[in-house]
Amino acid sequence: MKYDMNERLVEKIDRLRKQRRAVILAHNYQPGEIQDLADFTGDSLGLSVRASKTDADVIVFCGVRFMAETAAILSPGKTVLLPEKAAGCPMADMITAEQLRRLKREYPDALVVCYVNSTAEVKAESDYCCTSANAVEIVSSLPDGRIIFVPDQHLGRFVAERTGRDLVLWPGYCTTHILITEDDIKAARGKYPDAVVMAHPECSEPVKELADELLSTGQMLKFVAKSTAQQFIVATEIGIIHALRKQNPQAEFYPASTRAVCPNMKKITLDKVIASLEDMQYEITVPEQIRTRARKSLDRMVEVLPAR
Ligand code: 13P
Ligand code: SF4
Repeated sequence: MKYDMNERLVEKIDRLRKQRRAVILAHNYQPGEIQDLADFTGDSLGLSVRASKTDADVIVFCGVRFMAETAAILSPGKTVLLPEKAAGCPMADMITAEQLRRLKREYPDALVVCYVNSTAEVKAESDYCCTSANAVEIVSSLPDGRIIFVPDQHLGRFVAERTGRDLVLWPGYCTTHILITEDDIKAARGKYPDAVVMAHPECSEPVKELADELLSTGQMLKFVAKSTAQQFIVATEIGIIHALRKQNPQAEFYPASTRAVCPNMKKITLDKVIASLEDMQYEITVPEQIRTRARKSLDRMVEVLPAR
């Protein structure tokens, strides 16, 4: 019988996860084998909610740093581990707390909404947090007046358009989603004329204009489950295609661009999950004075507009 290395590694992870009383959370962009072993997979909103509700002692976060930080903010009594310490999100690092404070001084009457793809310090400076799944609802729920929206300009423009609100945008962007071009969508449509084009709001505006549906990764999974279409062009990080194919074996999924790979999401491997559980690394903590302030903006997101 063929010796299956991955199976042995997964068995080892199962033993360790029981010993440590750990729960493994994986984002929809994680490598397929990591999604398959996780206790829970989902989008940023689903993972935040799950992190806040688990009774495990340890959360192993297979994703990027801001996600593990969010779990640490929501679950202060738990040990939160990120299996690769260099798995960051370039977009989250495009605005610092000091830059946001300066922006707040420029617009002293504005409320601040930060995308969850941000550092704990930036969340601490914000009134509300949001994910791509609930950004429109969060912004719509706010009283009249100007709103500062950081750090993603592309999600921000999508929210401004859907809500008609006056948003002060920060020029942050996702280094992976901007690799998907207008020409990619046109070429994919030419090849698969019957396919539905789903794009993530982090994509550029010309790409979003060509899409049929603008959805977070979790919303893409829900949309496809209900759709009668058989073919889908997927304009987001290609890791989601693993989950889409698994949940919808009868349908066909085509990446809008095979370049849409987030190198940080792909830094998590089976070996690193083992090392993480064995050596309890890399623990993600947030200083208490930042944590309590960041928690307020996250509470509004998790409790006021919970995942459906
Ligand atoms: P969602 O899974 O919430 O759609 O987020 C996309 C993303 O880029 C996370 O880093
Ligand atoms: Fe950050 Fe983009 Fe990677 Fe998401 S896909 S973690 S926004 S770089």
